[in-house]
Amino acid sequence: MTAPHRPAPPGGPGTPDDRAAPLLVLRDLRVRLRTERGMVEALRGLDFTLGRGETLGLIGESGCGKSLTALALMGLLPEGAQTSGSMRFDGRELVGLPERDWCALRGDRIAMVFQEPMTALNPLHPIGRQIAEPLRLHRGLSASAARAEALRLLERVRLPQAARRLDAYPHQLSGGQRQRVVIAIALACRPELLVADEPTTALDVTLQREVLALLAELVAEDGMALLLISHDLGVMAQQVQRLLVMYGGQVVEDGPTAAVFRQRRHPYTRGLFAARPRLGLPRGTRLATIAGRVPELADLPAGCAFADRCPWAADACRAAMPALQPAAAGHAARCLRLDALPELPPPPQRAPADAAGGPVDGAPDGAAHG
Ligand SMILES: Nc1ncnc2c1ncn2[C@@H]1O[C@H](COP(=O)(O)OP(=O)(O)O)[C@@H](O)[C@H]1O
Ligand code: SF4
Ligand SMILES: [Mg+2]
Repeated sequence: MTAPHRPAPPGGPGTPDDRAAPLLVLRDLRVRLRTERGMVEALRGLDFTLGRGETLGLIGESGCGKSLTALALMGLLPEGAQTSGSMRFDGRELVGLPERDWCALRGDRIAMVFQEPMTALNPLHPIGRQIAEPLRLHRGLSASAARAEALRLLERVRLPQAARRLDAYPHQLSGGQRQRVVIAIALACRPELLVADEPTTALDVTLQREVLALLAELVAEDGMALLLISHDLGVMAQQVQRLLVMYGGQVVEDGPTAAVFRQRRHPYTRGLFAARPRLGLPRGTRLATIAGRVPELADLPAGCAFADRCPWAADACRAAMPALQPAAAGHAARCLRLDALPELPPPPQRAPADAAGGPVDGAPDGAAHG
């Protein structure tokens, strides 16, 4: 399989020393948005690192800031958004990057698989042309070379009758086929970072599993880093090495996937797992909500954002924002009362056939690959 030649990246590192830097480092990333109630802070100090080829998952209820995190990484935040802090990609600062430099990065070194393929694809152009476009733009391929590469990509995402479909329009494909095309476009330039925001939500359950397995396979084959957003804990257990639990625009728990699944150090993580679909429900079933509501951004309290819904809340929790507290090596939770939470029982022993499939119960060893 040939990869398109990658020229010296225009969005490349600032100095030669930066080559040793991790692929992505966020430090105190903050995003303020204009709303009817004035400017509000929607991302409130994100800190995380993603190494080359690593996989990271974001979970949390609707409205906690997952998509905004993805959009920040693509330079696609809503009009008027104010960003502060630092977001370094391959050693280069992205906060404050001019749009022309974002255009050089986006679709080339950082690519995204959007949730809804119909909005990601242009209904007026044949799919072959849409896959060829980033190859012509970023790699300078000729029309015929880009078309040949588009065919190879369609075969790679296992679109049936790929050659015949190069000239098809999006409306002539099924939802699952369209999402394969969206993946082909994202992979076209072999990005170093792939951001996938609920990439299969628009598909039925069987197809979700198939398309996600394909995505994971291609990401691993190309050695790219993956930031995956999904409501499906079973998917997370299988696809990501590290998990960030988000609430109120912050990371409230951060750790290796297996450790987060096993220990659930933050009360919010416990709530998410308690509300998860039980064994036997179809995979892909959305999480039920936890009692109480996610606070409006304009109403976020000065102290712990989860205090009004937390069974362990104490006065001190409302006084000031808890910092991320180390819970174990490489595992931290933003909670003042880590010691007050009871230990979870060890995961039930299961027959190997059981452990391989469905939504995760307890914390399977080796829940995360790699
Ligand atoms: N364009 C926007 N203008 C104002 N508020 C927004 C905008 N986009 C998202 N938000 C708000 O930011 C918060 C986080 O949104 P989002 O990142 O989409 O959540 P998630 O993907 O976790 O469901 C939500 O409260 C949402 O209402
Ligand atoms: S800091 Fe307090 S309110 Fe917040 S999650 Fe921990 S125990 Fe609950
Ligand atoms: Mg979202």
